[in-house]
Amino acid sequence: MNPRDPAPEYTSRHAGFYEKNGETRRGVLAASALLSADAVATLNDGRLPFEIADRMTENVVSTFALPLSVALNFRVNQRDHLVPMVVEEPSVVAGASNAARLVRASGGFHGLADPSIQTTQVQLDGVPNPVQAAERIRERRDELLALGNASIPRMVARGGGCVDADVRVLDPESGMMVVHLYVDVGDAMGANLVDTVAEAVAPQLQAWVGGRVGLRILSNLPLRRMVRVHGEVSVESLGSAQLADGIVSASRFAELDPFRAVTHNKGILNGIDAAALALGQDWRAIEAGAHAYAGQGEGYRPLAVWRRTPTGIRGDIALPLAVGTVGGSTRAHPGVRASFELARVDGARMLACLLAAVGLASNLAALRALSGEGIQQGHMRLHARKQGLDSHSPDAALREKG
Ligand code: MEV
Repeated sequence: MNPRDPAPEYTSRHAGFYEKNGETRRGVLAASALLSADAVATLNDGRLPFEIADRMTENVVSTFALPLSVALNFRVNQRDHLVPMVVEEPSVVAGASNAARLVRASGGFHGLADPSIQTTQVQLDGVPNPVQAAERIRERRDELLALGNASIPRMVARGGGCVDADVRVLDPESGMMVVHLYVDVGDAMGANLVDTVAEAVAPQLQAWVGGRVGLRILSNLPLRRMVRVHGEVSVESLGSAQLADGIVSASRFAELDPFRAVTHNKGILNGIDAAALALGQDWRAIEAGAHAYAGQGEGYRPLAVWRRTPTGIRGDIALPLAVGTVGGSTRAHPGVRASFELARVDGARMLACLLAAVGLASNLAALRALSGEGIQQGHMRLHARKQGLDSHSPDAALREKG
């Protein structure tokens, strides 16, 4: 590139990306996202150095590679994002990209993530008079929050810290109860932080009410850390009112039947997990929280629903998402650092909105395929491609513009 040329625009639109070879794709992204030399070298190399792997977990003997892809066309809250995805299943990346293109034509995704309030639990057992004990803890709520904050001074200095607490008696007979502390963890996922808080306050709780301290650990159902995203698609973009009705009917099916809802949610998590893995997030925590949230209330419910609008369809997704852009051992991973350069997310709440948008797009892609030609046709074409059986006929899902 001539140094006098203007920097190429950062965009998630790269028409014909699927047709290029790997080297050219990397070149396009490096120019568009202004990738650092480190990120370019990491993408070119594609390996995780053993010394880094050896520091990440225990008994490491080697490393294990999976494809790192990039989903295109994502626009969330008026900002473009390239979406790195690590997934072995064909159709997930192409499906998300194609669905994002449809939503983009109607203005892209819009959403809001709650402040990053993580939930942590302290279990107490054998507490005498647990109902009165719970009341005593409630009366000392401010003292409890101050004690928790004293254990995470750096987070407090950054504007986070304990914001609330509550208590529930789980079993009056045995005196088992649980205290929740709600902690603003800023741009961190926050697991270590809130475990620190739980451990710090537990002895004082025991001193106030007696009994024994049990577990002190975060909850993977962070209901105060919800993200909600929506997007619309016009009938014109979909190609037919019949397909729009089919998608809405498929969504209704998931609302009425848990056997369908779990598959519907699996399709959502196909996208969320893949992007979460590329971005170094704890995808097991995301899975646990998503399914637990789907099971709140009466029966197991879909995380995303689609309704007709006068001009097309509108999808809405809501789930708890504990994700972070700082901290976490996986930031040591050079592939994760390159993924963050690609995605350009400033902060945990923006990341949560992006992941929810990827989930909604993956859901739309699945429902569109299932209500139209059926999943097998597209799947089998991509499967054949994977086996190298029809490398001369790129799959239609990938070939759709852009
Ligand atoms: C396959 O990985 C995901 C789907 O089953 C999702 C769905 O049925 O909605 C296609």
